Order: sequence, then C-alpha cells, then structure tokens
Amino acid sequence: MPGAIYAEGLVKTFGDVRALDGVDLDVPEGTVLGLLGPNGAGKTTTVRVLTTLLQPDSGKAVVAGIDVLKHPNEVRRSIGLSGQFAAVDEYLTGRENLQMVGQLYQMSARDAKKRAGGLLERFNLADAADRPAKTYSGGMRRRLDLAAALVVSPPVMFMDEPTTGLDPRNRQQLWEVIQELVSGGTTLLLTTQYLEEADHLAHNICVVDHGKVIARGTSDQLKARTGGERVEVVVHESEQISPAREVLLGFGKGDVAIAEHTRKLTVPVTGGAKLLAEVIRELDIRGVEIDDIGLRRPTLDDVFISLTGHAAETEAEENGEAEDARGAQGAKAKKSRKESAK
Ligand SMILES: Nc1ncnc2c1ncn2[C@@H]1O[C@H](COP(=O)(O)OP(=O)(O)OP(=O)(O)O)[C@@H](O)[C@H]1O
Ligand SMILES: [Mg+2]
Repeated sequence: MPGAIYAEGLVKTFGDVRALDGVDLDVPEGTVLGLLGPNGAGKTTTVRVLTTLLQPDSGKAVVAGIDVLKHPNEVRRSIGLSGQFAAVDEYLTGRENLQMVGQLYQMSARDAKKRAGGLLERFNLADAADRPAKTYSGGMRRRLDLAAALVVSPPVMFMDEPTTGLDPRNRQQLWEVIQELVSGGTTLLLTTQYLEEADHLAHNICVVDHGKVIARGTSDQLKARTGGERVEVVVHESEQISPAREVLLGFGKGDVAIAEHTRKLTVPVTGGAKLLAEVIRELDIRGVEIDDIGLRRPTLDDVFISLTGHAAETEAEENGEAEDARGAQGAKAKKSRKESAK
C-alpha cells in the first residue's frame, strides 16, 4: 500500500528546464521525509505539485489516499502547507492572521481564538501578537506562517524550508513542534538546506538534483554509502594550507577539501586514531602549525558533497560570502551548474 505521500514519475518542464525529471516518492504514514537538494534541484516544484498548486506534465501523485490530479480540492482539505516564502496578510495582526485561518477551516470563533493564542505562545509571538504582521521581522513572519500551517492539524503536512531564517533557539523550538506533530501521527514532507535538520528530524531522506532523486535512505544509510572517517585540520596560517594539503594527500583516500577562510582541510581516511597520530607527526615535521585537528564520521554534508559535487548552498554562499568548502571538483561542478542555469 502506498504511503501517505506517494509520487511516481513526476515530470514538470518550464521551457527548457526539466524541473522534475521523473520523481518517485513514498512516505509512510506518521514519518518525516527530508527532501534535500541544491538550489534549483526541484524541491519547491515537488512540493507545489503534491500540494495541488502546480500541474505536472506527467506522473502520478497520491496524498492522504487521494489522487492529487483527479481530486485536488479534497487533497487541499487534508493537507497543511508552509511555503518557502511566508504567506501572511501584512495588514492583519499575527493573532488575526491565525484566527482567520481557523475560521477559513470552519472552526468556531471561540476555538479559532483559543488555537491562535496557543500557537502565538508556542512560536514566541505572544508579545507581538497584536501588531500588524508588516511590522514583523523576517524570522517572526516565518514563525507566523508556520503557526498558520498548524492551526488545523491536517494528517499530511508540507514544509518548504521551514527553518530558513530562524535563529538557533527558534529553530530548536520548531524542531520540537515538528517532533510532537509527528509523534501524534502526522506525515511530513520537509525540504531543507540544513543537513543537520534532516539528520535530526527525517526518518528518510531523498536527495534530489536536476529534478531527479539521486539517493534515498536513512541518514545512517546515506552516511555509510559515503564511507569512512575524515581527518579535519585547521592550520594556523593561510600559508600553511598548501604544505598541509600535501601531507593529507599522502594519508587520504580521496581529494582534500579546503575551506580557505577558515583554513580548514578535510580528507577521507581509513585507519582511525593511529593514523591521526601519524598525520600530526608528519605535519609537525613539515613545520605546519595547527589550531585544531580531529577525526570525524561523515556528516550529511559530506554525503551531499559526494553526491552532488558541491556543498549545500546557503543564501550567504549564493551571495559569495561563505567559505569555499568545496574541493576543486566541487567548484567545477558548481560552475557548470551556474552556466547551465543561464
Ligand atoms: N514558474 C517557473 N517558471 C520557470 N522556471 C521555473 C518555475 N518554477 C521553477 N522553475 C525552475 O525549475 C527548477 C527547479 O526549481 P525549484 O524552485 O523547484 O528548486 P528548489 O529545489 O526549490 O530550489 P531552492 O533551493 O533554490 O528553493 C529551477 O531551475 C527553476 O528555475
Ligand atoms: Mg525551493
């Protein structure tokens, strides 16, 4: 039996762009699917198709047991959506926004008011509840939008980058809300650029790139696929990146990734702590002064880099502010993506 969210062979093109190129998904009831992928991979397009906002060119989608293409209105009654860009009414206060959603869903005025009050507390908006939403900061808007998606408790929820722009405390709180929802039986599809978030919340993960699912599994399965440990070294001065890189190449089982700004070098290894001691000795012999060195298991970031050829792109990185955490190969992949996007 298909899960609470099911998709088969979804294709959607916009002119020359194949935004979805045969996406298959199956999310068991009461679980969280994390949809990961670089900018432009097709995450939002997938969410829009599954939430009836966009017609695919071909393929099949069933949500909460209802055919999305045949019965979009029924699907809408069974789902909640928090989009990538917050959809709140600027001129209403936070409280009014939430009450309005409740009443749209035929709650009594009293129930809608009670529900709104509870959610405003929950999302740290109680103090600002009676101000128009246009006076809210970006993170406050996002929280209001998420609260709006939770006014009614639909069996299936979609959240497109729910924690983008939230500070760490609010992100943590949203994670708690999500975990509660899911333990209550809600099925959730969430897209994120924060691999840590998928690691924390998602039972299963799909990595999409160029409109295709390029890997799927649990976070542990994906990490196991990426293989062993990594040695991470932070050198004291930028000049030492190059000699440190040579040392690491001698011990590593692959390319050395270099983050210039943070002077951090990372290389996949096999050999554990003993090898680490040897690396330290060799760096010392070459006169490389280190600020930090360690052995770590692959993170979802590593999985992402090995699958897509580059790190997850945050907004800062898009603006050219973030560190260059990619190896030479990754930088090339990113460049060609940018070019093909033109
Ligand atoms: N309405 C549209 N018209 C034309 N092209 C579109 C439209 N919507 C999406 N696309 C294109 O489809 C591709 C997938 O876009 P989508 O928004 O699904 O990516 P995404 O994975 O959500 O990216 P991001 O991480 O930046 O949110 C992109 O190349 C995008 O430019
Ligand atoms: Mg998107």
